[in-house]
Amino acid sequence: MLKRIIDLRVALTLAVTILYCANDFAANNWNVPVDKKTKNSYIKFDAASASQGEAIYNKNCASCHGNPGKGNSLKSLSPVPPDLSSAKTQELTDGELFYILSTGRMIMPSFKNVLSEDERWRVISFIRSSNKSYVQTLSKFDPNKSKLVKINLNFDPATHNIRILAIANEKSGVVALKDAEVALFAIRYFGRLQIGKSTKTDKDGMANFKFSKDLPGDKAGIVELVAKVNDENYGEIESVTKMKVGIPTDKPALNKDRAIWNVLAKAPIWIIVLYSFGVLVFVLVLLYLLNNLRKLKKTGDN
Ligand code: HEC
Repeated sequence: MLKRIIDLRVALTLAVTILYCANDFAANNWNVPVDKKTKNSYIKFDAASASQGEAIYNKNCASCHGNPGKGNSLKSLSPVPPDLSSAKTQELTDGELFYILSTGRMIMPSFKNVLSEDERWRVISFIRSSNKSYVQTLSKFDPNKSKLVKINLNFDPATHNIRILAIANEKSGVVALKDAEVALFAIRYFGRLQIGKSTKTDKDGMANFKFSKDLPGDKAGIVELVAKVNDENYGEIESVTKMKVGIPTDKPALNKDRAIWNVLAKAPIWIIVLYSFGVLVFVLVLLYLLNNLRKLKKTGDN
């Protein structure tokens, strides 16, 4: 009897869980935090921002989502990327859209470190442009405030730490950017390499990053670093600094002898001669064959 009751309870719990999950998937619930839901764009959604957004969309989103209203999204993916002009997507708030394309989920990539905040809002401007009933609520945030921000990077050779200080030079004095999100990147040949995890600044506007001891730099060990700070009041600010924090490395240029991007002028002479000779022989054989075919046709005609 007791076993039966337990079985029943297990079955019930399972059923409820499955129903709950199914509902969650059907509703495609992105569980956007409340404070992110109500975030609005400081960029006005007009024809100009939509057309800039369209270019960004075509480069970063169209391969999966297709073109809005055309139903040409990539059907082989699961879940199928939704048509972003659909009523379901358009019901999302601007803040939700911003959150979704910033954080991503499974197949949907995160664009946080790929597109700047400006670019993300422009893409949303484009997504909204097909929705005639949409009315924008502009954010009161002033993007010009980001110009007041100064970001300082300091390297401590003893601990191999990089300390980032973010402050704003307000008229009333210097203000530390508290609780701002900070990420650090090193610029590599193809894109950026994130150093450690993003963190938040402390009450003095400071954040600390442990820097690895084996990152190759240039001949003098110099690495180009990008500090990206995102603050509620001051927006997104990036600062690029060159610092001697890497291992001195004499990297050959990508187009140097025998490198992948070598150019014709640097190829060894014998390769050029052999290759040209091969092409010449091929063309001659082809001409010979064509000539024979012409002769054959002539004989036939006669
Ligand atoms: C690699 C393919 C891929 C790329 C590239 C991609 N997405 Fe997505 N996107 C998806 C998938 C798949 C989903 C559905 C994910 C889910 O429901 O878990 C999705 C979901 C979304 C949603 C939620 C829509 C809704 O109604 O739930 C938005 C908004 C979105 N993407 C915007 C974008 C934007 C804007 C870009 C370009 C900056 C982009 N995506 C690039 C695959 C992609």
